[in-house]
Amino acid sequence: MSNVAPTPPSADAPRRASNAGRYLFLLILGLVLGVIATVMVMRAINARKDHFPEALMHVQQWHMAQLKADMEQNRCNATDVLPHLQALRLSANDLEAAFPDLRDDERFKNAASQMRAAADRAIASPPLTCPGVGDALQSIGRACKACHQDFRN
Ligand code: HEC
Repeated sequence: MSNVAPTPPSADAPRRASNAGRYLFLLILGLVLGVIATVMVMRAINARKDHFPEALMHVQQWHMAQLKADMEQNRCNATDVLPHLQALRLSANDLEAAFPDLRDDERFKNAASQMRAAADRAIASPPLTCPGVGDALQSIGRACKACHQDFRN
């Protein structure tokens, strides 16, 4: 009985501890590499994507914001607001080109025409007062919304 030597209690313990450390290290390394790989893949996909549609939308958004700022600052002369209205009108010509998948959709076509018509009206009788700019903003904004509620996710 007593001549069975007990296994030395702690011969394996340090190795087990260092194995655990190694696994943890490998796990963290794997996670970090996974994150880096994911970011690289997403950047590659993003670089291949067509940025034109978003760019067009952001330009239109910017001109709408300029008009709103003009209105808030009480700068509603034709020279202040006409360039933005014209930019909105011209860029509205590109809606169909920017969204080729949607251009055949009746609702898309209507919304695009609605935006061009709203800008045309505003340019044909340019707003001379800030409430007039507000009206133009509203009717163009309605066209943005008409399209977005159907086609923007
Ligand atoms: C005839 C359709 C149509 C009209 C009109 C339109 N948009 Fe859009 N817009 C879209 C679609 C479709 C998207 C979604 C694009 C996507 O997610 O790929 C979008 C997305 C956007 C976005 C988000 C872009 C992004 O980064 O994903 C903004 C901002 C925007 N529109 C602003 C405007 C403003 C401002 C107007 C009006 C002056 C306007 N849009 C008029 C179709 C339209």
